[in-house]
Amino acid sequence: MDSTGSFWLPPQSSTMAGEVDALFNFILYVSTVFFAIVVFGVVFFGLRYRRRGKTGLTTSKDHNLFLEIAWTAIPTVLIVIVFFWGFKDYMRMVVTPAYATEVKVTGQKWFWTFDYPEGANAVNELVVPVNQPVKLLMSSTDVIHSFFVPSFRIKMDVLPNRYSMSWFEATREGEYDLYCTEFCGKGHSEMIGSVKVVSDSAYAAWLEASTVFGEGLTLEEYGEQLYTTKACVTCHTLDGKKLEGPTFLGRFGSEIRMSDGSSVLMDENYMRESILNPKAKVADGYQPVMPTFQGILKDRQVDALIAYIKKINQN
Ligand code: CUA
Repeated sequence: MDSTGSFWLPPQSSTMAGEVDALFNFILYVSTVFFAIVVFGVVFFGLRYRRRGKTGLTTSKDHNLFLEIAWTAIPTVLIVIVFFWGFKDYMRMVVTPAYATEVKVTGQKWFWTFDYPEGANAVNELVVPVNQPVKLLMSSTDVIHSFFVPSFRIKMDVLPNRYSMSWFEATREGEYDLYCTEFCGKGHSEMIGSVKVVSDSAYAAWLEASTVFGEGLTLEEYGEQLYTTKACVTCHTLDGKKLEGPTFLGRFGSEIRMSDGSSVLMDENYMRESILNPKAKVADGYQPVMPTFQGILKDRQVDALIAYIKKINQN
């Protein structure tokens, strides 16, 4: 089977798909063979030994050791094979690679939302990079839903009040159907989405474009958060104490002496420059040791830090 799938199954588009199909096919073929043997036996013996007056009757047998061992041993061996084969695949499906990208999946009546660790979020369209494992941490806000991507051969219930997990590694770029496969009310059949598998660079671009930085926070609140999470706190105090860098307290709006003897008004533009190009104007008494945050902080994050520093200076 290849990228187009077959009449029976959609294309195999995850690392697990081939293994799932192999076991499925094994069970299907074994069942088909035994179905054929049983049907053939019923018809053959029905015809061969049907009642034809007295002449065709045989004496009835009540025991055949060889047959009994055979029909016990053969199915047992087959079941043991299916069990261990299935167990091996199952373990692969439930043990997520440690380096997987984690996406929080929320099911609710009647749509899916996806939240990425970087802050991006999306509705009904899960965007993932190709050839990288993606872990899904899933929960529901209302009733039981179920996350099903046929092309990846994954299906997992999504429950209220607890997390369930699933993971996959998509092997082919493209767009794949996502279904809710647990009846969840009148909109159940509308609860459909897609999984978009894209290249690494397209994924990075999408992530960047879809990320709302500090969503739900005011600039000041977001800046307060960044002050710690982006490690400004390591070198800049809020209480006037001097560390590697100057304190943020009491300096906004005033003239600051630079190490080259000039003075600069500490305003929004100076702060922005100091964050993105810290060596341009170094305050007197400090070493030019601050790394640039160009490319690390997004525009809204720079704005947030500036807003926060201003707030510190208003109190
Ligand atoms: Cu959600 Cu069916």
